[in-house]
Amino acid sequence: MTILPDTSAMSQSAKARDSDQGAEQIVFEYHERTKHHYHSFAASSGYMDWATQPDPFRRYAGAPLVQLPLPKPGRTMPYWQLFSADRDEPTALSIESVSLFFRYSLSLTAWKRFHDNTWSLRANPSSGNLHPTEGYALLPALMGIHDRAGLYHYAPKEHGLERRAELEPSVWTALTTEFPDDSFLVALSSIHWREAWKYGERAFRYCQHDVGHALGTLRIAAAALGWKLSLLDPAENLPQMLGLDRDSDYMGAEREISELLAFVQPLDSTDIPFRSLPDAVASQVAESRWHGGANVLSPANEVNWQVIDEVSAATSHPTPLNIEDFSGFPLEANLFELPIRSGESTAETVILGRRSAVSMDASTSISAATFYQMLARLMPTRNNRSVPWDAIPWRPRIHLGLFVHRVDDVAPGLYAFVRDIDKLEPLRQVMRRDFLWQRPPSCPSGLALYLLKVQDCRALAAAVSCGQDIAGDGVFSLGMIADYENSLSKYGAAFYRNLFWEAGLIGQVLYLEAEAAGIRATGIGCYFDDAVHEVFGISSCAWQSLYHFTVGGPVEDKRLITLPAYAESRKAHIRRSF
Ligand SMILES: Cc1cc2nc3c(=O)[nH]c(=O)nc-3n(C[C@H](O)[C@H](O)[C@H](O)COP(=O)(O)O)c2cc1C
Repeated sequence: MTILPDTSAMSQSAKARDSDQGAEQIVFEYHERTKHHYHSFAASSGYMDWATQPDPFRRYAGAPLVQLPLPKPGRTMPYWQLFSADRDEPTALSIESVSLFFRYSLSLTAWKRFHDNTWSLRANPSSGNLHPTEGYALLPALMGIHDRAGLYHYAPKEHGLERRAELEPSVWTALTTEFPDDSFLVALSSIHWREAWKYGERAFRYCQHDVGHALGTLRIAAAALGWKLSLLDPAENLPQMLGLDRDSDYMGAEREISELLAFVQPLDSTDIPFRSLPDAVASQVAESRWHGGANVLSPANEVNWQVIDEVSAATSHPTPLNIEDFSGFPLEANLFELPIRSGESTAETVILGRRSAVSMDASTSISAATFYQMLARLMPTRNNRSVPWDAIPWRPRIHLGLFVHRVDDVAPGLYAFVRDIDKLEPLRQVMRRDFLWQRPPSCPSGLALYLLKVQDCRALAAAVSCGQDIAGDGVFSLGMIADYENSLSKYGAAFYRNLFWEAGLIGQVLYLEAEAAGIRATGIGCYFDDAVHEVFGISSCAWQSLYHFTVGGPVEDKRLITLPAYAESRKAHIRRSF
């Protein structure tokens, strides 16, 4: 008997391969064309069109708003405890704990005023303070929120939850049989236009950085409550689950693109036996009762940046991610020299006090021990137990090229910080031949930090960061060098987003560490891509710098008036909906 090949299956897999290669090509081209160069910037409108400035606050008119009770300030949980496995009992899921979760992750933290201009800041930072990221939660029935499970959009200005959809109790019970008690789902989406309004084509990158920062604030907020948070493989139908495909709810309003879905559960509950939700969850939410229509964010016609739509589509079919092997990663004891269960700061003051420095003082220095502690916080530990790295299943794909300016007892110069020791050799191969690759003598054994070249690199760091002085006037600055081509060939084009998320997570940890050390940090999305590669001798496209960061002594802008995030009258206000 002759067995004929199943040509339909073959052509399907060939098609999938071809389409993924096509998608990767779109990503490579997008990345290349959105580089900034000394002689030219990525395409943007080149000016701020104030007539189309997008509203930073999305609302769904007609969706019932549950105002969350503002948590009383003054929580004493120490900052270091956020990162420690030996935490207090998990907090029970309630309107109060959901409120604290969003307060620490996506809420407003202050209003700023200068003359007639007033703007808000949030727990999560954002490129240009434009805040393209929207937050969602799929919550069970909870006293004070609703008597049935529902999908909620988080409204930061109100510190409230807009009920977009509600589920029949029997449907919810059937869907969540495998969920531990007190668990829920959280999701993020992006409104590209908010960033594209100012940054044009490069905006897709910034949206992804912002998602990474927000993933960090969510993971840290969960830690403050004794919860763990893990990224799930996003279902193809995540847009359906979030209602983002409901054309009639976005009449004339800017669309949101779904980004990620994460599972939140008490720290002491057993790990969930799934990496993705059954399709039925999204379809049942989609079929439930929906409320509200999205507001229009720009009063006049927006510009359509087609390459953003293209790269967004090319990165919207994620490959399921394996939980990678972290057994060779260092133990906490090999990473930290300082007693890690010490420090004056509380988690709350660091999380709510986090701010970007707009200018650095060009004089503050830090001790080597503080510097090493900051780097240690950027490392996953053995078997991936450290916060926030336990939220993502992949091994580090981002390594740091550092410009060290003012760290006591650490020579100024260029350094490499290798976050996965298996990448040490590939990085050595790809960087300049004459680099030293010397370990600083006092560096903890678990930190793969290498001096490449002794150099005063203050002017160089500022120059490659689009001439921004903050990169040279701080304590150190850095480029985040991604294992780019390999990662995309392993996990497909959609992993382009994940690389930026990892970069955003690194940035978020640096923001908090700087705040806890009494200094400040700033994300730097504007840098000259290939000029940075040139500094480190990287000529291959396989490795690409995806984000910059600076840490140092801030100079406050004393002209600004700071106002509280929420009016006094909001305090202790709880609206019961049943
Ligand atoms: C992805 C990203 C890129 C950024 N790029 C720059 C930059 O190039 N230069 C700069 O001065 N600030 C930059 N920032 C800082 C933002 O301007 C800052 O986060 C925003 O104004 C909100 O202020 P806050 O961080 O104090 O909340 C960036 C922030 C992010 C998250």
